[in-house]
Amino acid sequence: MIKTFSSRAGRLSPTNIAFLEKESACLLKLGQAPETDKPVVIDIGFGDSQSFSEDVLKNPDYCFVGIEPYKKGFARAVEFYEKAEPDNLFLFNGDAREYIEASDYEISFIRIHFPDPWPKKKHTKRRLISNEFLTSIYKKINSGAKLEIITDSKPYQMHIKDLLDAQKLFEVIEAFEISYEVSTFHHKGIKKGHSIERYVLLKN
Ligand SMILES: C[S@@+](CC[C@H](N)C(=O)[O-])C[C@H]1O[C@@H](n2cnc3c(N)ncnc32)[C@H](O)[C@@H]1O
Repeated sequence: MIKTFSSRAGRLSPTNIAFLEKESACLLKLGQAPETDKPVVIDIGFGDSQSFSEDVLKNPDYCFVGIEPYKKGFARAVEFYEKAEPDNLFLFNGDAREYIEASDYEISFIRIHFPDPWPKKKHTKRRLISNEFLTSIYKKINSGAKLEIITDSKPYQMHIKDLLDAQKLFEVIEAFEISYEVSTFHHKGIKKGHSIERYVLLKN
């Protein structure tokens, strides 16, 4: 599997390390289902977890499974969980493709906000959103499930448009039930004057 994330670790503080080592109740194993009766939202790549944590608090009727390989961001999400104790947050530290592939429960929503753009031509294979990815997601989710993608990267937007034009699996719609705050990468995109595009895909 080609890696879709860079190996940046970020400098881990003693607090980060303590939360990474904690046997927190929010932690999931590969493919493990969260214990919840709420519709499940998988958030792929929540980054520093700042806006993600707010989204968890502002959408209490949904259960979030946050997946992030980046250790520093992951440690911050565990810290948030331990301090705020939301009953609608679970976390997996690793690659979302592997987690979803190993899962066997009902996933209602998937969010991918500002995926790593990999703008250089030689890196395009590292983009998370590909035909192969959409096909594997499609096989794992039920009818009525939705996928939301947001990006400020022009090359990624063109790439997604080409993918969507060529596929017949998903219907492109507008509505997505879960609200979101402006994230760190969203802020960066706005600051650079980029146009932000959002795509919502429905499995019929
Ligand atoms: C550009 S950052 C965006 C972070 C956040 N969503 C935001 O809007 O600020 C992309 C994140 O996706 C994560 N990522 C990349 N590939 C991933 C994968 N296969 N599974 C889970 N997370 C992934 C990266 O580690 C990175 O933190």
